[in-house]
Amino acid sequence: MTDHLPKENCYAPLCKYDDTWYPSYLIPGVVASKQLFKAEEGDIILASLPKSGTTWLKALTFSIVNRNRFKPQDSPLLTTQPHDLVLGLEFEHFRDGVPQNLDQPSRPRIFATHVSHASLSDSIKASNNCRIVYVCRNPLDNFMSYWHFFSSSKSQYIQGETIEELFVKYCKGVHPYCPFWSHNLEYWKASLEKPEKVLFLTYEDLKEDTVSQLKRLALFLGFPFTEEEEAQGLVEEISMVCSLGNLKSLEVNQNGVRDHGMPVSSYFRKGEVGDYINHLTPSMVETLNKLTHEKFAGSGLVFKSK
Ligand code: A3P
Repeated sequence: MTDHLPKENCYAPLCKYDDTWYPSYLIPGVVASKQLFKAEEGDIILASLPKSGTTWLKALTFSIVNRNRFKPQDSPLLTTQPHDLVLGLEFEHFRDGVPQNLDQPSRPRIFATHVSHASLSDSIKASNNCRIVYVCRNPLDNFMSYWHFFSSSKSQYIQGETIEELFVKYCKGVHPYCPFWSHNLEYWKASLEKPEKVLFLTYEDLKEDTVSQLKRLALFLGFPFTEEEEAQGLVEEISMVCSLGNLKSLEVNQNGVRDHGMPVSSYFRKGEVGDYINHLTPSMVETLNKLTHEKFAGSGLVFKSK
């Protein structure tokens, strides 16, 4: 299936499909989810580049949508990893090229994906009432978070490359699910064209004011908080349950590895805006800032990176 596709290496073997560099082993899942996934009215799709706040968005969305089934103190998040509550389309449901376990115990169904907007199933884009939430993170922290994640692992998919080599590849757009600029911009444009269908969130805004962003997300999803819920402090409670500090402290998120060999604990690190400053040289920061400025010029999308 991948024979005719352009190939590169970055962390792992990559193949270019829909102008995006996907991990080669995921190509069957990417193609099958694009061709075979049939969105139902009401479905929620959580989209992101890896290491942009996917885990957080899964926890927040699951909590908003299921708050009538579970009180915060009984949240399944206390005993189940966020990645087991909301599964990925291309890397779980369609991993083997065929649909698996698409039904969910309640509606709306929630799915996650890292694919580009171009690689989304047409049924997601065409459906009137299937909503997409995209979380975006400033490229400097996104790059660093990715590096930390994989350098902490002994995954079979990882090959030895220096941070300098990986940085050059990130800036060339040869990085898993990248180029980052086209991934971000495709969803950004979709959110401007169809704001009722695509919500564009940033990791930095979520960090700055989680409660406001949580209310914004709930409203967009069609599950707005009532005045009574707000008065009871439910928004703050959900924010607390989903916080990095809380999730990181839970036993379920501390031990074991996920099926692709990544330690569960590596999904929960520092969660800071601007942590890149501790790891990238000033010249690397300048290079990536310049590139970001060029690529996003005129789009209206501006990154907060401290
Ligand atoms: P850092 O590596 O900067 O710490 P993803 O979930 O897309 O894989 O992104 C991982 C990044 O989000 C990591 O960033 C991780 O620490 C952070 N993160 C995970 N859960 C979080 C949460 N509940 N709140 C805030 N940040 C979180």
